[in-house]
Amino acid sequence: MIKSCLVEKADYIIRPMEDVDIPQVSEIDHQAFPAESLFRPYTSYKHEIHNSVAHYLVACTETTPPDTDSRKEPWLRRLLVRLPAMLFGAEHSNSYGTQMKRILGFVGLWIMLNEAHIIAIAVENNYRRLGIGEDLLIAIIELAAGLNADFITLEVRASNTMAQALYEKYSFRVVGRRSGYYSDNGEDAVLMSTDSITSDSFTAHCQQLKEAHRRKWKDS
Ligand SMILES: CC(C)(COP(=O)(O)OP(=O)(O)OC[C@H]1O[C@@H](n2cnc3c(N)ncnc32)[C@H](O)[C@@H]1OP(=O)(O)O)[C@@H](O)C(=O)NCCC(=O)NCCS
Repeated sequence: MIKSCLVEKADYIIRPMEDVDIPQVSEIDHQAFPAESLFRPYTSYKHEIHNSVAHYLVACTETTPPDTDSRKEPWLRRLLVRLPAMLFGAEHSNSYGTQMKRILGFVGLWIMLNEAHIIAIAVENNYRRLGIGEDLLIAIIELAAGLNADFITLEVRASNTMAQALYEKYSFRVVGRRSGYYSDNGEDAVLMSTDSITSDSFTAHCQQLKEAHRRKWKDS
């Protein structure tokens, strides 16, 4: 279980998802999309991360655990606590100068010809409304542009007004509806799309929002 802890507003980085992130990403996914869990099991992220059309980013914070001077510890204890890092790499270790990586949210995109399709975006429950979801969306829009996509599409539950508000802020507009799309409750999917993400108006709008986001969350 990912535990809640206080985190500085800007104390995370956004970077490509790595294999070692998958357990935490899966947990956030299952928490955010309980009805879809069956279709996105742990193993599918293992596949996705090596899928050439898929691109996943995570918001990740690194915290160095409170440490005492490890040289004062008996050698056997020092060896035991370092063993996970020696065997699996530093990310798995949680002691003595190594860093714990906490995933706060993730976003996934598929590139299909000139279309970028957002597969999922989610922020861990305890870290919502801190600007992280918006930061992830900004990053994935920039990634899509860098991968030469012309526009970005997605599906969202008709009832998910908070996600729709986020997308609308970034000029996604409703372009269709799939009736009864979600099999768990028969809910409709709303299809949303941007216009050209390389157009002057879209890039200027995103740039404005990006600066406002930085002023709100990072410079304060
Ligand atoms: C949607 C989600 C990713 C937003 O992440 P977040 O970090 O909480 O969002 P942010 O703090 O960055 O908010 C950015 C914008 O999103 C919208 N938003 C986010 N939460 C909202 C809420 N509870 N009510 C209304 N609007 C909301 C607002 O437009 C907000 O901009 P504002 O601060 O100028 O009002 C998050 O709520 C989540 O993980 N939800 C569950 C998974 C999900 O529904 N994903 C989308 C599936 S398509």
